[in-house]
Amino acid sequence: MKIDFTTESLDQLAVPALAVFSFDDDPAANGSVCHLPEATRALLGELEESGELTGKLYETTLIHHPAGLAQRLLLVIGAGKESKYSTAVLRRLAGVAVRYLRARGVHEVAWLVGPKTSDAESVQALTEGAVLADYDADTYRSERNSKKRIDNLRFATGGETVSDSARAAAERGRVIAEAQNFTRELVNEPSNRMTPEMLAERARKMAAEFGLACEVLDENEIQALKMGALWGVGQGSEAPPRLIVLRYNPSQSDSAQAPESAPLIAIVGKGITFDTGGISIKPAADMHEMKTDMAGGATMLGVMRAIAQLRPATRVMAVIPAAENMPSGKAYRPGDVLTSMSGKTIEVLNTDAEGRLALADAITYAKEQGAGVIIDAATLTGAVTVALGNGITGVFGWNKDWVNRVRASAEAVGDKMWELPVDEDYRDLYKSSIADLANTGGRHGGAITAAMFVGEFAGDTPWVHLDIAGTRWSNEEKPYLAKGPTGHPVRTLVHLLTHMQAQ
Ligand code: BES
Ligand code: MN
Ligand code: ZN
Repeated sequence: MKIDFTTESLDQLAVPALAVFSFDDDPAANGSVCHLPEATRALLGELEESGELTGKLYETTLIHHPAGLAQRLLLVIGAGKESKYSTAVLRRLAGVAVRYLRARGVHEVAWLVGPKTSDAESVQALTEGAVLADYDADTYRSERNSKKRIDNLRFATGGETVSDSARAAAERGRVIAEAQNFTRELVNEPSNRMTPEMLAERARKMAAEFGLACEVLDENEIQALKMGALWGVGQGSEAPPRLIVLRYNPSQSDSAQAPESAPLIAIVGKGITFDTGGISIKPAADMHEMKTDMAGGATMLGVMRAIAQLRPATRVMAVIPAAENMPSGKAYRPGDVLTSMSGKTIEVLNTDAEGRLALADAITYAKEQGAGVIIDAATLTGAVTVALGNGITGVFGWNKDWVNRVRASAEAVGDKMWELPVDEDYRDLYKSSIADLANTGGRHGGAITAAMFVGEFAGDTPWVHLDIAGTRWSNEEKPYLAKGPTGHPVRTLVHLLTHMQAQ
């Protein structure tokens, strides 16, 4: 999607459609509708009178040949109550406009920005919302929606000049949302087209395109490094495991303001390309959804893709343990004891608790590479969806400073997260009678014990865990977002990594 600005007056601007929003108190006048010419607002007044225009959140009212405007179509989107307005709402409104108009054969849309919505934060959010809304999980449909995409989004000021910061914000928004869509494409891939090696190949290709260093450790190197936990998970599959490592280093000019002592941040993403549960096999119903069990890894690839372009003054390393969890004559068994790279031994009580095993070795690797902070994202537990549903990510960690930084970034970009506790007393739940640790802590508090198990391998290194089992995928079509992979929480992590100096 091409994104630009235009200062042409609205009665001259030759674009097929103009999009505006209105609040539900006084919808003909309150919102970006207030910048419309008088004749157009009078028309909206009539629609309000007749009850057609209410300003209810996500309401869409399409007007053909609107009075006072050069555009063929005027789309008025309901913005709900003004008291509940935020950039998160604005992001979604842009999404509603894109999905509504492209479904009606429109390829070019102008979005009216006034003094209240032409600031950098608003322009970035609008751009993100528009680009995210233009995605469909239709890679494998013969009739793709690509013919129905919006090619050009134009921010129309109606005359006012555009600030440099607004132009930069549009570019930032595009980079971030395209990275998030990249993550969504990866998560959507079926497992016959997304083995650990295929995921590694995608990572190599992306890294080459955006100038990142990429290293992929194969099954021999994984064994040579004594990653017994990751190896155990992958050993039942015909498709061998990989450890994917990407590095971003700021160049001299990027790091001009960065202190030399800034820590290396490791972002670690669970990359299980299919999770059958292994010998502790999952029930057949919904098992196909386990093609998304690499969403944490895909998230980190999206984050790296964005920061390679945004160039923050922070060193970042992505580590993605990729494996397929399969039952077979070679598969690991319940009762097996694995020796992790850290030296800690783990008794496998359930081969379906594989994510924490893969993460254990990836985190140890990140520490050996000098990570000063570790942030992981993983589709780790069904339990987190019982606690928080499918719209909210669980956040865990002992280090409250870093937990709060992640939460603040989530808040800033409109990703929903909620902190769940970690608790010393619960460490007893995943004790083993024959090894250092057991890989499950029972059903109760399952998201917490899973997180704490992962945290055992971070040790004293500041660590934050995001359980995205619920939020990686949406089974509902939203007016502003397609059904399917969400690309959550790419924006949160990009925000965190690009706002390090400020903290
Ligand atoms: N990948 C699953 C978790 C999951 C469930 C992700 C639903 C997305 C949607 C994970 O590997 C798993 O199987 N966890 C088990 C742990 C249990 C065996 C201790 C679970 O949550 O049931
Ligand atoms: Mn599992
Ligand atoms: Zn899993």
